[in-house]
Amino acid sequence: MMMKRYRLRIPGPIDLDSEVLAYMSAPLIAHYGAEWVELYTETVTLLKRVWQTREAEVFLMPGPGSVGMEAAIASLAGDTHKLLVLTNGFFGDRWVTIAQAYSSRVLVLEHPWGRAHDVEAVAQALQRDPEIKAVVMVHGETSTGVLNPLKEIGEICDRYGAVLVVDMVSTLGGTEIAFDDWHIGIGVGATQKCLECPPGLAPVAVSPRAWELIERSEGRGWYINLRTWRHFARKWGDWHPHPVTMPTGLTQALRFSLRKILDEGLSTRWERHTKIALFLRNALRNLGFELFVPDDRDAMNTVTAAKGHAQLPAGALIRALKERHQILIGGGLERLSGQIFRIGHMGPTATYEAVVPTLLAIEEILRSVGVSVEPGQIFRVQVPVMGPARSSP
Ligand SMILES: Cc1ncc(COP(=O)(O)O)c(C=O)c1O
Repeated sequence: MMMKRYRLRIPGPIDLDSEVLAYMSAPLIAHYGAEWVELYTETVTLLKRVWQTREAEVFLMPGPGSVGMEAAIASLAGDTHKLLVLTNGFFGDRWVTIAQAYSSRVLVLEHPWGRAHDVEAVAQALQRDPEIKAVVMVHGETSTGVLNPLKEIGEICDRYGAVLVVDMVSTLGGTEIAFDDWHIGIGVGATQKCLECPPGLAPVAVSPRAWELIERSEGRGWYINLRTWRHFARKWGDWHPHPVTMPTGLTQALRFSLRKILDEGLSTRWERHTKIALFLRNALRNLGFELFVPDDRDAMNTVTAAKGHAQLPAGALIRALKERHQILIGGGLERLSGQIFRIGHMGPTATYEAVVPTLLAIEEILRSVGVSVEPGQIFRVQVPVMGPARSSP
């Protein structure tokens, strides 16, 4: 059977630049030797620029974002210290599951889904319990559209000497992250979101302070132990700087997209994502939807979640967009199943070209169920003007 093609407006993977995709069918190259080391090293160096780090070591782990999450925990877990895991959504809960799989000393700080973490509560937990040596959190909680206060939690962790471990799967490349300045210990990304590549690589950045804790931990495993990755980067750095066979086409695609990201300019890029998010939020409000994250200041600039309309449940909207307009958006996960819909606006889908047809299709679907919406009503909100691209950083 022919696979039907849809426009991917889900929160990753996203529709990609055809040049990025072309690398996936390029002739295979070897994953070792001088030419490969040059390609790998440039890719890692470009990632450091996107992360804004000079201090961290960066590894490219083949696998989904979750392999990077598991690597962070497996490397840090040990019975000598406690991990504090913050959760306010499905991916925060995934951190809890992974942490509990590796450590018996896990404290969980839960916050309501749809609201950003409470920085003061994190400070109090660290003050109460000096055995907490690592704080684990999600930056952009894709399941709800909440952006958690990373910079502020980084300052608290620095004050109490805790290593901050962060899932940046949905924000890296789309949202501001200053790895060194914000005192981040371990950052985990994934290629299929704002890095504008197919899924398959999890970039992981590790700070010198995180290494100190890893060295004091009883980290388990081999592939998922970051010590293994550092060992190969150091011992085999001149010909094969990683422990396993690498997806070479995907790495080439990533180098290309990272060059493109930096060419656009990081701040221009973050601003573009923020403007599209704001336009989308206002347009959805204008159509009568209630946003899942009420406060614009707590909202991600790469994913937007809204509740179903009084006359159009979220599931019916998702189905109609797929069947009548060939547009895929996301639904609610776990406890939000059937209640919300989620639109991704990442990289090439954080543009008017991507977002406007989706909104016009939503208008049409609303009209078809009897909601009074005028064609083009979405433009009765402020439509931000996009600036020209600058060169990074
Ligand atoms: C915030 C967040 N963390 C982790 C993941 C897991 O990524 P993967 O499916 O690549 O393991 C996702 C995937 O959507 C995500 O959005």
